[in-house]
Amino acid sequence: MGAGRPGSVLAVLGVLGVCATRGPGLAAEGKTGGEAEWAEPWDGAVFRPPSALGAVGVARSPGAPRPGREEAVDLPVLLWWSPGLFPHFPGDSERIECARGACVASRDRRVRGDSRTRALLFYGTDFRASEAPLPRLAHQSWALLHEESPLNNFLLSHGPGIRLFNLTSTFSRYSDYPLPLQWLPGIAYLRRAAPPLEERAEWRRRGYAPLLYLQSHCDVPADRDRYVRELMRYIPVDSYGKCLQNRELPAPRLRDTATATTEDPELLAFLSRYKFHLALENAICDDYMTEKLWRPMHLGAVPVYRGSPSVRDWMPNNHSIILIDDFESPQKLAEFIDFLDKNDEEYMKYLAYKQPGGITNQFLLDSLKQREWGVNDPLLPNYLNGFECFVCDHELARLDAEKAHAASPGNIPVPEPYIAQPSHMDCPVPTPGFGSVEEIPENDRFSSSGSIGVHFPLLRVRNRNQGDPAKKRKKSIPGQEVEATCITEMSIMMACWKQNEFRDEACKKEIRDFFDCASRAEAARKMRSIQEDLGELGSLPPRKLNKLLQRFPNKPHLS
Ligand SMILES: *[C@@H]1O[C@H](CO)[C@@H](O)[C@H](O)[C@H]1NC(C)=O
Ligand SMILES: *[C@@H]1O[C@H](CO)[C@@H](O)[C@H](O)[C@H]1NC(C)=O
Repeated sequence: MGAGRPGSVLAVLGVLGVCATRGPGLAAEGKTGGEAEWAEPWDGAVFRPPSALGAVGVARSPGAPRPGREEAVDLPVLLWWSPGLFPHFPGDSERIECARGACVASRDRRVRGDSRTRALLFYGTDFRASEAPLPRLAHQSWALLHEESPLNNFLLSHGPGIRLFNLTSTFSRYSDYPLPLQWLPGIAYLRRAAPPLEERAEWRRRGYAPLLYLQSHCDVPADRDRYVRELMRYIPVDSYGKCLQNRELPAPRLRDTATATTEDPELLAFLSRYKFHLALENAICDDYMTEKLWRPMHLGAVPVYRGSPSVRDWMPNNHSIILIDDFESPQKLAEFIDFLDKNDEEYMKYLAYKQPGGITNQFLLDSLKQREWGVNDPLLPNYLNGFECFVCDHELARLDAEKAHAASPGNIPVPEPYIAQPSHMDCPVPTPGFGSVEEIPENDRFSSSGSIGVHFPLLRVRNRNQGDPAKKRKKSIPGQEVEATCITEMSIMMACWKQNEFRDEACKKEIRDFFDCASRAEAARKMRSIQEDLGELGSLPPRKLNKLLQRFPNKPHLS
């Protein structure tokens, strides 16, 4: 992917006249690859941000393009290391005009070592430490764009992972170019009138549940299905997605992800029949809010929400959603929803923000007003170009600071390094969606791939490499146990990689320690699994016993 076309390196290194920036109107549909989520319509996007699907344009108005060889020669180059996200079309390099000045954006990896290449831009979901461009060059900043759930890249929610970067753009308000409202198109989207309550009462009489659940991505660290399953014991929930499904969408067309997206008007009309929507994010991180939250509000339903712990900061007023974690149990939550379901006046208070003057949260209003990018709005720039310009401006400022220091080393200090912080992606280690870790059944997904898989994929890879058939059988190791066993080793290993430019030779000991730890945990698990199998099956005929034992390469454990 990295090669690009032969001529394009020239474009970056001087022949820039051809590539003056284009206005948004000329932008083409820059569909990128890797839209795995698209197969999961309910978990994907109503407002899939432009980064992945929409049109790409330029962040600022092109202004008066001043292409010129002399000028271009000195421009800082920003290299998109994730080429699929390069937000320009056509070509591999483009001059961009930003607030402080101009830069050249490129996706031609051959400029990587150039002294003018000042920043490398990475897309979090694609970022693999093992594929990082090493050795790291001292004059280059690393910039990370990761608006998606941490589910898509575990490494970045660990301190050593995020600190690899200098600049960030994430869902967190604390990142350098923050995107917390990336799924909220605007105030008008929230204000849209709700359908009349009588209509919904009619649907209730026809047998609709008060609550809707629409989820097709079932195996996530936020462990949402466990909670919903429990809630279903106390109040009816109509579930249409793959997870906990108990109803079918009315038309085959709506069930088919190829014909109906989550923006489909017919689908939205159907969903708006429900008074309450269960809205559980796939990961719990500060400021990580998606369409799961905003879509019900758009449709005039009340979200029953679990997700960003800081969600209140962003709500239109202080009485517009129901927070699952405000209730001590699913039963208590069910009782409250039932109360609202039967009490129109109380229910309508949750929709007061749709009335004139109903949006009282100034922080929300200001945030929407101040952001320079749009969501699914062809008239506004998108945040991909916005972030690119942010990096460009940062690098121009850094260049100025370096020049000032060079001119007057005695008076002006070397610019301080700038390093990303864990708060830029604040996601605590997952906890069970309902109940405590000890109570989780051993064959539960939370214990197997769901939680551990995301936070400790190395364990998973290793299991696979060993071809361990026990994986398919009962698991007896709860998430916390592996974590408690190996998390220190893993952090040390990652810190070592980081310090040593990801050279495995330099971190042999740390890597070995981690894998030893992982193997021990694995061995302990196998041991228990065997014991369970033996206990479960009672006295096995010798042939069956042998067969069982063959599944485990470490026979000595059995003696
Ligand atoms: C919610 O806002 C109203 C009006 O702004 C205020 O009177 C009330 O005390 C607030 N309630 C809470 C729980 O903050
Ligand atoms: C970028 O971050 C790294 C740490 O990951 C740091 O060593 C380096 O000095 C930083 N560079 C700049 C230009 O701030």
